Amino acid sequence: MRRKIIAGNWKMHKTPSETERFIRKFLDLVPKEPSCKVIIFPPFTSLERAGRFLAPTTVELGAQDVHFHDNGAFTGEIASSMIKECGGNYVLVGHSERRTHFQESDTIVNRKLVAAIHGNLAPIICIGETITEYRAGTTKQRLEAQLSGGLSKIDPSQLASILIAYEPVWAIGTGETAAPATAQRTIEYIRQWIAGKYNAASADMVPILYGGSVTAANTRDLLAQPDIDGLLVGGASLDPHSFAAIVIASE
Ligand code: PGA
Repeated sequence: MRRKIIAGNWKMHKTPSETERFIRKFLDLVPKEPSCKVIIFPPFTSLERAGRFLAPTTVELGAQDVHFHDNGAFTGEIASSMIKECGGNYVLVGHSERRTHFQESDTIVNRKLVAAIHGNLAPIICIGETITEYRAGTTKQRLEAQLSGGLSKIDPSQLASILIAYEPVWAIGTGETAAPATAQRTIEYIRQWIAGKYNAASADMVPILYGGSVTAANTRDLLAQPDIDGLLVGGASLDPHSFAAIVIASE
C-alpha cells in the first residue's frame, strides 16, 4: 500500500518569519502523527527556519528547485547539499512554472533529477500538458516526452527514490481542477508507462501525485482514485487552515 502524500508548494511566498508563523499554527491544527506524509516546500530563504521548526515533527521539508552541480561558479543557484543541511529531504523538479518562465527543458530536468538523487534528495518530477495540448488530444504524447526525457538514464534502483506529480498546466492556479476520473485515467497511463519502461513492481511502488487547484473540497474525491497517491497543493497550502483542512480530509 502506498502511503498518501500531501505536499504544499509555496512558490514565491513567505519570508522566514511568515514561515515560522505558518508552521506554529499549522502544527496546532493537524494530528501529531497524520496517516499521510506531509511535505512543505518553502522558498530557499525559508528552508533553514522551516527545518528548525519541523525537525521535532513528522512534517517533511523540501525545496522548490535544485541546481545540477554540487558547487561552483553558478551565481544564484542552490546545490542539494545546501538543501540537505537545512533539513530538506525532497525537491520539486521541472515544475511547469520553471519550464515556462525559466525555459527548463527535459534535459535540464533530467540533470536536476540525477543531481538530487546523488545528493540524497527525493525528487518530485512535475509533468503535465498545456490547455492547447489537452484540447488537441495530445496529452499522452506530451507526458511521454516529459517522462522519457526527464527519466533518461534513470535506472530502476534510482527510480525507487523518485516521485511523480501530474499537474495539468491548465489546472494550476486556475480553480479548474481536473475531474477525478480524468486525473485517474491520466495517472493510470503514467503508471503503465513506468511499467513498460521499468517493470510492474517499480510502477506499483512509484508515488504519483495530482496537482492543480486542489482544495479541501476536492481532496477526498481525488484521493479516492486508485492511482492517485497524493496531492501537490499550491494556493491552498499558503494558509495554515486551508492546508490543514486538506491534511484532515485526506485521513
Ligand atoms: P495550485 O498550484 O494548487 O495553486 O493550482 C499547484 C502547483 O503549482 O503545484
